[in-house]
Amino acid sequence: MGKSTVSIPLGVQVFDEEMEQAALNALRNERFVFGEDVFKFEEEFARYIGSKFAVSTSSGTNALHIALLALGVSGGCEVVTSAYSFVASANVVLHAGASPVFADIDSEDFNVDSAEIRRKVTKRTRALLPVHLYGCPCKMKEIGDIAADRSLKVVEDACQAHGAEYDGRKAGAIGDVGCFSFYPSKNMTVGGDGGMIVTNDEDVAKLAAKIRNCGRKSQYEHDVVGYTSRLNTVNAAIGRVQLRRLDEWNRRRREVASLYDALLSDIDGLDLPPMGDSRVKPVYHLYVIRTERRYALVNWLQKNGILSGVHYPLPVPLQPVYKQLFGYKSGEYPVSERVSSMCLSLPIYPNLSEDDVKYICGKVREFLESG
Ligand SMILES: Cc1ncc(COP(=O)(O)O)c(C=O)c1O
Repeated sequence: MGKSTVSIPLGVQVFDEEMEQAALNALRNERFVFGEDVFKFEEEFARYIGSKFAVSTSSGTNALHIALLALGVSGGCEVVTSAYSFVASANVVLHAGASPVFADIDSEDFNVDSAEIRRKVTKRTRALLPVHLYGCPCKMKEIGDIAADRSLKVVEDACQAHGAEYDGRKAGAIGDVGCFSFYPSKNMTVGGDGGMIVTNDEDVAKLAAKIRNCGRKSQYEHDVVGYTSRLNTVNAAIGRVQLRRLDEWNRRRREVASLYDALLSDIDGLDLPPMGDSRVKPVYHLYVIRTERRYALVNWLQKNGILSGVHYPLPVPLQPVYKQLFGYKSGEYPVSERVSSMCLSLPIYPNLSEDDVKYICGKVREFLESG
């Protein structure tokens, strides 16, 4: 077969004139670090999420790491998190000096299974770190109940879930702390790496703000061990413009997802993305289907000019570094292992056209129905 002339990416970066102007204005008129846009972005993001405080950081990983430190997670503590996520959700627990304990996922929504969390909590557990995978919120009521029973903190990894809702509340605003990533593939970005911590706890917000700024009490007086993890002013300026677009972008993502659902639902050998239950309003950071013939389908789509992705090919405990450090073996997280062997992300972004979705679905059907 000849090379396709079609070219549909998995996701797109958006940078328009308004963002360019905001970036230029910040660079020309503000301090590069801790300029006015940083604090305005924090205020606006907190308001959007419905939290009292927001502290910006240089990445989602740093947001999670600093959140754990600000909640007092340290050596000797355990943090229960999902076996199936981007590796950073577990790495941050190690960064804080604590031990990640993995709970398998629920086959209904691919988020961490609350029954599994309950089984994994020990006397050393200090916090739970659920991940709203693919932009679909976790069952936060069940997770909150465990935390309340066992006096645990909850850190929401909302790095893929900007604007998603659970029971009418925004993901990130439900636990003790919520953390976001603005990495360019996310539903909103800052034109580079960036992150945000949100919380209603003023002490946690103050400590997090201090830790991300070298542990400063004053300019050259440091009373905690901190990091240089600030968000640059130019990125905050771009983030402010993107935040204003987020709801519209998420609305479009949901439309694209519904069209995929409608066009793919009758294909044998194909499972559609988890929907979650009636309490959740997802934002489709990714649209993830499952098929036994995953890599053959990836190649077929590529030949037809369609890029797809695999999020993620391995559960976190089976990542080489975790196997090497902790000796995890196949078979310990059966649901995560099954999903990771079959998952395939189709293109999704706000301006993906209806014609492109129809073309993609046609190619998926052609492949799977040809046996
Ligand atoms: C679920 C999850 N957690 C954490 C992160 C880390 O965010 P960052 O890449 O901004 O460090 C990401 C994104 O990359 C993610 O998808």
